[in-house]
Amino acid sequence: MSPSTTHHPLSTILVTGGAGYIGSHTVILLIEAGYDVVVFDNFCNSSRESIKRVEKIVGKPISVIEGDIRNRNDLRLAFNTYAVDTVIHFAGLKAVGESVEQPLRYYDNNVYGTVALCEVMQEAGCKSIIFSSSATVYGDPATTPITEDFPTSATNPYGRSKLFIEEILRDLYISDHDWKVVLLRYFNPVGAHPSGTIGEDPNGIPNNLMPFITQTAVGKLSCLSVFGDDYDTHDGTGVRDYIHVMDLAAGHVKALEKLPLFHEVMTINLGTGTGYSVLDMVKAFEKASGKEVPYCIAPRRAGDIAKCYADPSYAKKVLDWKASKDIEEMCEDSWRWQSNNPNGYTA
Ligand code: NAD
Ligand code: WQD
Repeated sequence: MSPSTTHHPLSTILVTGGAGYIGSHTVILLIEAGYDVVVFDNFCNSSRESIKRVEKIVGKPISVIEGDIRNRNDLRLAFNTYAVDTVIHFAGLKAVGESVEQPLRYYDNNVYGTVALCEVMQEAGCKSIIFSSSATVYGDPATTPITEDFPTSATNPYGRSKLFIEEILRDLYISDHDWKVVLLRYFNPVGAHPSGTIGEDPNGIPNNLMPFITQTAVGKLSCLSVFGDDYDTHDGTGVRDYIHVMDLAAGHVKALEKLPLFHEVMTINLGTGTGYSVLDMVKAFEKASGKEVPYCIAPRRAGDIAKCYADPSYAKKVLDWKASKDIEEMCEDSWRWQSNNPNGYTA
């Protein structure tokens, strides 16, 4: 390549699911770090509008391939068109309750889709993958904080799809040590880009706490149901490790930088190490937004656990990464996105 071309010396990253919540935030940091990015998404749970907004934030167009990870020809088009050397693999379905109703759809999309992706990567000679796993693989942990060597288990098809994919990627590495595999186990992502122009935009009534809170505050929902106040926690409500999506995105950039140094499959928690209860979150959100969040205590939600938060020290050690944004910033940024975009990406 001649030095006069604009091509950046850093590599080209294929981001599956790059139009989604975590993917779109990660794309911004990748581009800001100088990587060439190609988004691969079938838009089954996202919109082109998120890409347009990301283009505004980074000030340049983004290459997008509309395709399905289960379709090898869609994937081949991506690898034949671009010199991809690493895949960050966010694409997947993620609703726990829906996965119980539609297990085959979840296994097909998440597990089969990842197998197809890895096959085409192998064909193309691209053997580096960073995968979106989840703290859900720890099931109901015996103690907290959770380290990466805790036993894994799953209570629903979504969680099992993550466990299966982790094992498949480990097998792939065993078969061929040229593969570079990083399994990032996210805790509870919240927040949004500080511009307030991109954020989480769930379909229908949100399953997750933060979008439920923000939609209540903006007046779309009338009242938050707090699922259980009799857990063994400081105030009886469930405790989780909420992490700002920009911190999470930064963890991916770090993983990408360190990837060449890894000579085994890396399994890494991405959390803050601090647990907040549902009521802590409500209070913090009310303070950050100046809005009241009406709530009532409801029965426990099936499958929920009392406490889940990370020991993030391994990420600090191997990625030189730690979360930097506190609960106040998480709430402020979630609120800026929701209040500027009461209907998400739908005008
Ligand atoms: P999201 O739904 O916003 O993003 C996923 C993206 O993948 C969407 O844009 C969707 O259209 C796309 N997609 C889904 N199936 C596809 C397919 N077959 N082919 C091509 N594209 C497809 O979800 P998110 O919150 O950004 O999550 C990203 C990843 O992180 C997922 O794998 C999820 O399981 C994982 N994760 C999320 C959380 C969370 O709470 N948000 C926690 C832990 C792990
Ligand atoms: C958080 C807390 C609820 C909604 C889920 C998935 C997990 C991961 C992240 C992908 C709990 C309480 C919630 C509400 C409430 N996703 N709550 N009222 O359950 O920790 O994790 O998302 O990998 O796999 O299971 O997150 O946001 O649903 O709940 O009281 O309306 O808020 O009981 O204590 P969860 P959440």
